Amino acid sequence: MEKREPSMNISIFGLGYVGCVGAACLAHLGHNVIGVDVSQSKVDLINEGRPTIIEKDIEELCRSAHRSGKLSATTDVQRAINTSDISFIAVGTPSTAEGHLNLNYIHTVARQIGSALRDKQGFHVIAIRSTVLPGTNNRVGEIIAEESGKQRNIDFAVVSNPEFLREGTSVHDFLNPPLTLIGSDSQKATQIFRSLYKDIHADFIETDIRVAEIMKYVNNTFHALKIVFGNEVGNICKALDIDSHKVMDIFCRDRQLNISPYYFKPGFAYGGSCLPKDTRALRTLAHDNYISVPVIEHIEKSNDLQKQKAVKLISKYGCRNVGILGLSFKAGTDDLRCSPIVDVVETLLGKGFNISIYDKNVKISELTGTNREFIMAKIPHLQHFVTDNLDDVITASDVIVVTNKETEFNDILSRYPGKIIVDLVRAWEDIDYSGVYEGLSWGNINTHASQAASLNREIIGSEY
Ligand SMILES: NC(=O)c1ccc[n+]([C@@H]2O[C@H](COP(=O)([O-])OP(=O)(O)OC[C@H]3O[C@@H](n4cnc5c(N)ncnc54)[C@H](O)[C@@H]3O)[C@@H](O)[C@H]2O)c1
Repeated sequence: MEKREPSMNISIFGLGYVGCVGAACLAHLGHNVIGVDVSQSKVDLINEGRPTIIEKDIEELCRSAHRSGKLSATTDVQRAINTSDISFIAVGTPSTAEGHLNLNYIHTVARQIGSALRDKQGFHVIAIRSTVLPGTNNRVGEIIAEESGKQRNIDFAVVSNPEFLREGTSVHDFLNPPLTLIGSDSQKATQIFRSLYKDIHADFIETDIRVAEIMKYVNNTFHALKIVFGNEVGNICKALDIDSHKVMDIFCRDRQLNISPYYFKPGFAYGGSCLPKDTRALRTLAHDNYISVPVIEHIEKSNDLQKQKAVKLISKYGCRNVGILGLSFKAGTDDLRCSPIVDVVETLLGKGFNISIYDKNVKISELTGTNREFIMAKIPHLQHFVTDNLDDVITASDVIVVTNKETEFNDILSRYPGKIIVDLVRAWEDIDYSGVYEGLSWGNINTHASQAASLNREIIGSEY
């Protein structure tokens, strides 16, 4: 006989779109679910076997879950906590008039759960299902600890478990999510969630709480960007009497560069002979046809900001001797045209920094054509700064800037301790470096104790 895992006892706070769908689906998966809401009418609906929302398939799920005794609801927080071991928070997180996140409902529920946990025995997991900014789980953990007098990760855990459903297809999306994401710092809580979601056939991803918290915002902002980009392309195409749907159909068929993980990793500005020229051309074409394309228009501005950010990062240590590892626009080429590091070097030279440059592919005397014209117009005296000896550049410099992923840079951390390394391209995934390491667009990946501690202090200071 097939061995079935025992069902779990779950309370869900908030019986709106997310809470009602979660309650019905978890009960459908065989768990015992009690919903909690401040709205008596929503509680009554669930207790009559009816959903609080209109959604495909939800009526039948609520009816059968209620009939089998797996789904009920209450306004009594203590009763819900006493009869469950896992509590989901699915209350609203609306925007304030200024665009900030209103966490009042979340904090109220945290206080209620904390106070109810005071007299309850056993380990309890609280999962935040609502969309919340990084730092919220931490604050909820503090509130629950204060109210309950219990210890986080010993008596209870708070995990982030963001919801990826879309209204209209929410039951299907709950049961078939793109992935299941748990942000957790408790192995025990993570194991409980693995078991809870064992019948959901999607990758189970366990990560840091703050990573999980920001994911939903990154996802939704990207979805919004896709829509706006498609519309701007459509508006340009319409002005030129081109069928935009044919264009975007073909666009979507490129699964190597367009609809793919390519180009998504945070790093340095784009450059080279094509991206700067072609984005500018499309923007100008739109302008010439009186089509406003604010997203496309601001791509180059954002790219320029990334170069300015690199200048600031290199300058912030107050050291005048800077070594640049890699001058061309990417590894494995001598193409300097629109290489973003050339702009950075130009700015640093203007500010009086002592620059030395190493790039095994760039031989100034051998540059020809537009490549030579470009660099001579930008930095005519470039030959004074470029050497073909990596060791000379690093020895002469206090700040080392890594601008591409040439394999010969892999071991510079072990060979040159005590430098300041500015990494523009995430040359290493995680490192243990006794010097200073800072990435352009990522937090500290340095596992060396002193640097990790300084990062923790910075993060704590930024939480609310
Ligand atoms: N709607 C979606 O498609 C969707 C998808 C993913 C994530 N989310 C996020 O999930 C969260 C909930 O969204 P929603 O659309 O379900 O909101 P909703 O407004 O439909 O439901 C929230 C429910 O919480 C209840 N509530 C408020 N205070 C409470 C308290 N102290 N105790 C118990 N219940 C309380 C309200 O009465 C309401 O029924 C939000 O953070 C939202 O951003 C929503």
